[in-house]
Amino acid sequence: MAQELVAFTQESEWLRTALNKWLDDEYCPEETNIEISRVAASSFYRSLLENKTDIGEILLKMAGDLKPISFHGAFSSANAAHDLLVYTTLECESSEEMAASMHKAKEEGADLVELCIDSLTFSHISEVELLLKQRTLPSIVSFRPNSPSNSCREDWKKTCLQVLKLAVELDVEFVEINSEVVCDEVVAALMCKRSNCKIIASSYVNGGNPTKERLCNLIINLQSTGADIIKLVIDVAYITDVAPVFHMLTHCPVPLIARAAGDRGLISQLLGPKYGAFFVCGSLGGTSTPGLPPLTSIKEVYKLEYVNPDTRVFGVISNPVGHSKGPLLHNPAFRHTGYNGIYVPLLVDNVKEFFRVFSCNDYAGFSVGIPHKEAAVRCCDEVDSLAKSIGAVNTIIRRPSDGKLIGYNTDCEACVTAIEDALRERRKTNGHASNVSPIAGKLFVLVGAGGAGRAIAFGAKSRGARVVIFNRKYERAKALAAAVSGEALPYEHLNDFCPEKGMILANASAVGMQPKTDQTPISKEALRSYELVFDAVYTPRNTRLLQEATEVGATVVSGVEMFVRQALGQFKLFTNGLAPVDFMRRIVYEQF
Ligand SMILES: NC(=O)c1ccc[n+]([C@@H]2O[C@H](COP(=O)([O-])OP(=O)(O)OC[C@H]3O[C@@H](n4cnc5c(N)ncnc54)[C@H](OP(=O)(O)O)[C@@H]3O)[C@@H](O)[C@H]2O)c1
Repeated sequence: MAQELVAFTQESEWLRTALNKWLDDEYCPEETNIEISRVAASSFYRSLLENKTDIGEILLKMAGDLKPISFHGAFSSANAAHDLLVYTTLECESSEEMAASMHKAKEEGADLVELCIDSLTFSHISEVELLLKQRTLPSIVSFRPNSPSNSCREDWKKTCLQVLKLAVELDVEFVEINSEVVCDEVVAALMCKRSNCKIIASSYVNGGNPTKERLCNLIINLQSTGADIIKLVIDVAYITDVAPVFHMLTHCPVPLIARAAGDRGLISQLLGPKYGAFFVCGSLGGTSTPGLPPLTSIKEVYKLEYVNPDTRVFGVISNPVGHSKGPLLHNPAFRHTGYNGIYVPLLVDNVKEFFRVFSCNDYAGFSVGIPHKEAAVRCCDEVDSLAKSIGAVNTIIRRPSDGKLIGYNTDCEACVTAIEDALRERRKTNGHASNVSPIAGKLFVLVGAGGAGRAIAFGAKSRGARVVIFNRKYERAKALAAAVSGEALPYEHLNDFCPEKGMILANASAVGMQPKTDQTPISKEALRSYELVFDAVYTPRNTRLLQEATEVGATVVSGVEMFVRQALGQFKLFTNGLAPVDFMRRIVYEQF
């Protein structure tokens, strides 16, 4: 059979051409070449049997089948995570600024920098030459077409080619040719001048919804120019658009740098190494570029150099998601326990669609945040009974045995036990100690009836409190009050509500959360009726509500305490084991 297939390869002119493009005979020993031909032929043959007609798809399948073969050619270890290179893009107007940024990038852990020479204002090419000669980090030299100063296309093209040629002559590590000028002749002209420099052919893919076919065709076109590396910057509208990018990273027959642009593309960098990305882009301190993790977090929080194909993916599904502290806690905890996992922010617009697209077992567990906690219940195959009665999940685990999604709510116990412990502590100092929940029989005033509010209401009810709910949307407060046999009152009455002294107040609304930190749901004066004030908001840690409650003498419990408790509960579910309690507490209280 194998012989037949080799013969079949030899007969197929198309296949031979495709393989020749891929193989680099200079580095590839003869016996490996034979093995490659055999596997490629078998892959091609199977594609025909499966009635595949799309050439791009057949090529990609072949690339995937060939990947396990160990050789120093097109599929070499270039895409292996251990070779990970972290880079940042520098756009600066002057050479001095570029040199200073390069220095900063080095300090923040960049292995190399992309020098966007198009952003520089220079009157003579010798200034660029000096900058390149004095570079302090390995570099990618690029000259992009989008600068406003490059209004005349012909002038831009001339300068672009002049800069790229100079970079090759100076043996800069990487020279990037963008799709405006890339063609066989340009690549060939630069190739014949180079000694060690690698040529990158790049393209911007706009319009969102990048299909596998579209990316595949682009890769084939760029690769046919003979460039060493392909780079795609891809416009994505939704996080699910990143899936084809991962597919390409896994199957691309040549080294590929792929970046999904914008906030929803962030995981293309954070999870790229799982799919074989060997370049990851980060943003330089102080600048926040949508879709790029800060350089420092790549090294210190995510430690992407340890991410490999077996790494299990966890993350927080939320919108917005930037405020989440989960990555700062769960990633170090994974490493502390020796668990091969990564926890990333997931900016999700549609939870159902997210789970439909990222459906493999490697996407193992999720925290669920604003505004998806209730919608997420409908995406679960099974929901734990407490979460079911609350009607909101904050944790979803994909069961490894059958891939089913199981929903939990760790918010409820986290909040209620934090309040109970603080009240017990207060009572202890006052000489009262009891095993009965200190919440039992108390008037428990809850602000907010969203996901967190529901969890807290059910928790308070389960401890025998009398629950009163205020929520901006009154109907929502009424529905929750009915579910916990409590009372709903109009939001405007919160400040005047004072049927008794010594009540408990729990804010589970988003009021006071960053960036609107000057807001508070209740007046300072009204806080005098409360023995304890809890704020679920944990960014910032000491909200205006908590500051004012302290000032009027109430015991305060921060959302950070609830956060650490619910995170401990999640971590146990994620790893099916014990969480490193002291370690996680220390991180939260030292860093948050
Ligand atoms: N510490 C922790 O571990 C922890 C855990 C979970 C949540 N939280 C925090 O709790 C808060 C709520 O989270 P969630 O998951 O429950 O979100 P959610 O389901 O989206 O609910 C948001 C709640 O905030 C209310 N709200 C939003 N903007 C408001 C405004 N301008 N004025 C009055 N009410 C407003 C909403 O009222 P309407 O119903 O009227 O829209 C709703 O009750 C967030 O700050 C979140 O970070 C903390």
